[in-house]
Amino acid sequence: MSEPDERIPNAVPHLVGNEWRYLKECLDTNWVSSVGPFVDRFEREVAAYVGARHAIAVVTGTAALHAALLAADVGPEDEVLVPALTFMATASAIRYCGAWPVFMDSDPSTWTLDPEKTAEFLARECEMRRGLLVNRTSGRRVKALLPVHLYGHPADLDPLMELTAHHPISLVEDAAEALGASYKGRRVGVRGLAGCLSFNGNKIITTGGGGMVVTDDDGVARRLRTLTTQARADVVEWIHDEVGFNYRLTNIQAALGVAQLEQLDRFVEAKRATARAYIEALARLPGLEPCCEQPWAVSSFWMFSVLLDPAVWGSPRRVIDGAAAAGIQCRPLWYPLHRQPPFRDSCQAYRVEVADRLHARGLSLPCSVGITADQRDRVIRFLTHLK
Ligand SMILES: Cc1ncc(COP(=O)(O)O)c(C=O)c1O
Repeated sequence: MSEPDERIPNAVPHLVGNEWRYLKECLDTNWVSSVGPFVDRFEREVAAYVGARHAIAVVTGTAALHAALLAADVGPEDEVLVPALTFMATASAIRYCGAWPVFMDSDPSTWTLDPEKTAEFLARECEMRRGLLVNRTSGRRVKALLPVHLYGHPADLDPLMELTAHHPISLVEDAAEALGASYKGRRVGVRGLAGCLSFNGNKIITTGGGGMVVTDDDGVARRLRTLTTQARADVVEWIHDEVGFNYRLTNIQAALGVAQLEQLDRFVEAKRATARAYIEALARLPGLEPCCEQPWAVSSFWMFSVLLDPAVWGSPRRVIDGAAAAGIQCRPLWYPLHRQPPFRDSCQAYRVEVADRLHARGLSLPCSVGITADQRDRVIRFLTHLK
């Protein structure tokens, strides 16, 4: 039973497996830093889980995105098409490459990158110049698509992959929120050139902080290993081919990851059970529309989110503040990136309308892996009385 004044967090880690045992093993064996048996095992097991040939462990999901974009040959003054409705890191990683995000709209049925509007942008706003795809407005080369499997729901990848077949662009998946989700029977992260995962504390499994790039491409995997290990070419003389990054995950973090991965199937089921319970209970309340699964998708329901009818509920902020006073941590949807201070004056946004509407009405409810039925009931009771 949850106590009435016990705080219900939005999404916190669930550390109930072999975490202690594997951490102790690191300390007992002196393997604590950025190589070690748990790093190798974590990479192997994540690769097997998602069905990729390679997995490269890195310090954060943001580092995974940065390294993957570099491996996709995204460089200074290039452009990457990215949804406006996502976490800041998706676009920050583009800027780390010296490239620019161009913000696309969301599909109202998945809240992820709208494939039709993205295709329209390429058809109307871009042209081929000497073999390069160029954005007519900026004069810059468009190098990649970066769809985000938002809140655990897969983006519709087939039409986006189709765009990469007809244009000289790569597709990199931001699957930071979607480990455990599938698109048409395959785990997300493996359709494009590379997929990026996050093991931040609020993700479905955590290593404290951490990330992974998965790919089927041997060359991309080699490039990622080089870039993320300071581009060290000669391991005896410490000669470096170029300026790389110290992005390697430690054995201690990977030990946590291995223990968490052992529980992932159960964690996904717990998230999905929470989504089912909320969907059923909230159907009795007016003016609430949950983000549902498409028939071709299995969502990890990393976040459980709803759209509020403002005539019934007022603004998401009203609900968030009321919930906070009741000890319940709700969250708004991501603040659309084309309105973020570092991007709003310098980056192009193409017909972004749905993303703004979703943000204006969206709310994420508590959905930790370990949330109890009592805690969910408290959230539902709170909403029932607030309305
Ligand atoms: C969509 C998305 N992309 C990237 C990241 C970055 O991951 P990290 O926090 O591990 O750097 C996150 C989450 O934190 C995310 O939600």
